[in-house]
Formats: sequence, structure tokens, C-alpha cells
Amino acid sequence: MSYGRGSGVVTTRKVPDKVSIYDTTLRDGEQSPGIALTVDDKVTIARMLDALGVDCIEGGFAASSDTDRKVLTRLVEEGLSADLYSLSRCRHGDIDAVIECGLKHIHLFIATSDIHLRYKLNKTREEVLEIIRDSVSYAVSKGLEVMFSCEDATRTDYAFMRDAYMAAVDSGASVIDIPDTVGVCMPAGMYEMVSMLIRDTGAPVAVHCHNDLGLAVANSLASVEAGATMVHTCINGLGERAGNAATEEVALNLKLNYDIDTIDLSGVDRISKMVARYTGYPVAYNKPLVGRNAFSHESGIHVHGILNNTETYEPYPPEMIGRSREIAVGRHSGAHSLKDKLSALGISFPDTMLNDLLAEVKSLSVGGKEICDIELAAIAENLLWRGKSEEHVKLSEFIVITGKNVTPTATVTVTVDGVSRTCAQTGSGPVDAAVNAIRGALDYKIAFEELRLESITGGSDSLCEVTVLVKDSTGDGQISAGKAVGIDIVDTTVDAFMQAINRDYSRRI
Ligand code: KIV
Ligand code: ZN
Repeated sequence: MSYGRGSGVVTTRKVPDKVSIYDTTLRDGEQSPGIALTVDDKVTIARMLDALGVDCIEGGFAASSDTDRKVLTRLVEEGLSADLYSLSRCRHGDIDAVIECGLKHIHLFIATSDIHLRYKLNKTREEVLEIIRDSVSYAVSKGLEVMFSCEDATRTDYAFMRDAYMAAVDSGASVIDIPDTVGVCMPAGMYEMVSMLIRDTGAPVAVHCHNDLGLAVANSLASVEAGATMVHTCINGLGERAGNAATEEVALNLKLNYDIDTIDLSGVDRISKMVARYTGYPVAYNKPLVGRNAFSHESGIHVHGILNNTETYEPYPPEMIGRSREIAVGRHSGAHSLKDKLSALGISFPDTMLNDLLAEVKSLSVGGKEICDIELAAIAENLLWRGKSEEHVKLSEFIVITGKNVTPTATVTVTVDGVSRTCAQTGSGPVDAAVNAIRGALDYKIAFEELRLESITGGSDSLCEVTVLVKDSTGDGQISAGKAVGIDIVDTTVDAFMQAINRDYSRRI
């Protein structure tokens, strides 16, 4: 199946044939508050990134901690296919730390915006240029391949930024990286800046876009359109504050929009889940690609479309990123999705009862609860089992009062073939009180024989399935069963009891 782009023009610009993914999950991603990965965690993630096929891995910031040095040293020993980088300030001590870990690649940075020069570095522009020349030449003289970043580039005066990058390139830097450090640039601005720097420096350009305004991926793609050949990214869009451009989103966009192959997209879902688990940063349900709902269809109209042709509501097949489609069952569901789900579950359900099933599902998905497969199967099987039995005995009112240090008391009004009787009873618990009150409201005796109660999924929001057996003590002593599926244990038991009573009653008349 071809997932077309319709009449939408992606770009008329010439994009590079090859774009490298520089993954900084282990450095910028790890700088997200509350994330503290162990050495082993980082090694495991690095292996997965390598298997995914990222071109470069920023494994840490050697001068920043013992852990980072241990990680970087271990990663060198791993012999990854990706080029392994460490972040480094423009200081000899930092550069030495990277060399001691055995790396061949370094990412040197220094801030260049006026606000950073004044309030952070307390240096003049001339001093900064001198530091760049000195540190880049030092790193190159030690045999390192250098990527150089002007921190806060997108808020730096262009002429000075160009001088800073030229100083780096003239001193031997092989790649210049443009960080949108506080995520304020717009795609058109990023396009202009990248174009101008390629024109003025002639160096290969990388970009490092933060997501403070939600533009990190758009800015990265605009940069590629301007000729950037490397994009810095983090899995799940992790990173300082609102994060960096998400590796998976950038890679998928490069493929879908420009047919540029980067990482193995089929491994995206797996690594996303693993990074979420290791970092403790959950992925938002609605996050593109890897969010729980990205391929989940619930509303009747959408499911109908999807069942006819998946392209109706999916821009690309979920299998492309290692996922599968999910038809969710809940209060927006339509008959089509229920039928499809049930046949996938091997339950043949008559069309004539689909509306009853739909009504039951909707009433049980209170508060937006999603009905999972086994719950749906239980509801359907219960409806099938119940059939179209007549309701001679109706529970028209039911209330139960219970709590701590309160005697559970139930009041019911039961209507038998049009005649109503009200009764209140206490019991050892709310179920017992309800059963006693219902029995008291009947004008014949019925024995409550057995109650079986099961939580369907075992979760705290699980539906429960109740079976009640009753014995008609005035008649032939036969047992009648009632079954119900519901949310509340007491309500569901009462439903099952009323069903058993009706089965018993139908036998008697
Ligand atoms: O966001 C940023 O500016 C950075 C630099 C260190 C490249 O992460
Ligand atoms: Zn950053």
C-alpha cells in the first residue's frame, strides 16, 4: 500500500542526499531534571542507538563527572560503529579529559550571544574568539576530530557568530553546529542562518534545536532544506527544559518528506520504550510516533474508515516504526469496531445484538475508561449468554448505604409484573444488605446459593464479572444462574442476582 502525500508539495528545494543523526540522548537528554542514568544504563542505551544506526552518539560530558568519564571509557571499549563524541568546554582540562577516555571525537562549545558573554562568561567577543582558536587548535593537535558549537547561536549577532565559526574552521574544526539553545528560532530564520553559514564558512553544518516553542523538529527540517547535513536529536525528544528535536520524529520526517534514509525506523518503538523505562520519563499518550495513541482508533467513523483502508486515518503504516494499529473500544466506539474486534477475538456475535453491545460498552466506559479485549469478550459473552430473556422482575430503585462503623443498609423497589414493592434491609456488607432487601421485596422465597466474583484484568479499574446462583425454595429446588459484567461490585452483583431471579421466574410461569 502506498501512503501518498496527496497534492501536498513538500519542498522544491534541493536537500542533501545524506543527513547524519547525532544522538545526544545520553548527554543533553540526560540533562533533563530527574534523570540519572547509571553507567550500565547508558551503555545499554548506547548499544541500542548504535544498533538503530545513528551516525554519532554524544555519550556524555567527560569533564563533568566521574560517571560520564566511566561511561565514555566503557563506550570506547564497546567499539561502536557510531562516532563517539563527548561535549567539552573550550578548555584544555576538558579536552584532556576527553582524550583520557580514549575518544577520537569532541564537541567543543562556547557561548557567543551578548547575554551569555555578559552574564555568564564575563568575556569580550575578542577574548571568546581567542579561546575558540586556542581550544580548537589544541584539540586538533591532539588528534581529535572537532565539532564546534556557538552556544546560543540563534541569539548571537550574525557577524560575530560568523567570525566565531570561521575561527573554529580555520583552527581545524571539521563540522560547525548551530544550537538554537533556548528554542526561539523560527523555521524560516533557521533556514536563513544555515544558508548564510554554509555560504560564509564553506563548512559542513549541523543543527541542535531545542523545543521550547515546539519548533525543534520543524527547525531541524528547515535546516536540512538549507543544506545542513547533520541533526542533533534525542530519543523521545528528551533534553534540557522542553527537550531537543526527537530522534524518531526527525528520522521519520526525513524519510517521508525527502526520502532520506537515516536510522532503522523499525527499531524506533522499542528504543523509545526502553529509554522511557530507563529514564523514568513517560511518553505522552499523544506524542507523535511513539505515544500510546499514535495508532489507536476509537471513534466509530475513524474505525469504519480504517477497516476499509488504513490510509484514511493513518499518514504512514505503524509497522514502519515497529508498531501495530490498535482499535480501541470505549465510549466513542461504533458497531464496526466492535464487530471487527470480536471476530479478531474469535467470537461470532450476531449483528442483531450489536446495538445492545454498543450500549453496554458505552455505559461501562465511564470517565473515558477504555475497554480492553478480555473485558469486551466478557461483555459480549455475557450478552450472548443472557440472550433476549424477558424481564418480569424489575429493580426500579436501589440504594445502599455503607461505610466504616455504619451498618450496611439497602432499600429497593422491585416491580413484579407491574406490581411494585419497597423493602429496606441491613446486612453484613453492602452486597448482603442488597440481596436481603431484594429478597424481602419479593412475595415468594428465593435462596441465594452462591456468589462468584472475578476481576477481569486484575487492575484497579478492571470490570468485574459476577455469577450468582439462586434456588427457588418454594418450587422444585432448581438452581438458576445470573451473570453480569460491570464496574461496581455491588451494582454488578445486584444485576446478576436480578437476572438469576428472572430466569427462575420464567421457569415458574
Ligand atoms: O543547547 C545547547 O546549546 C547545547 C550546547 C552545549 C551545544 O546543548
Ligand atoms: Zn542543548
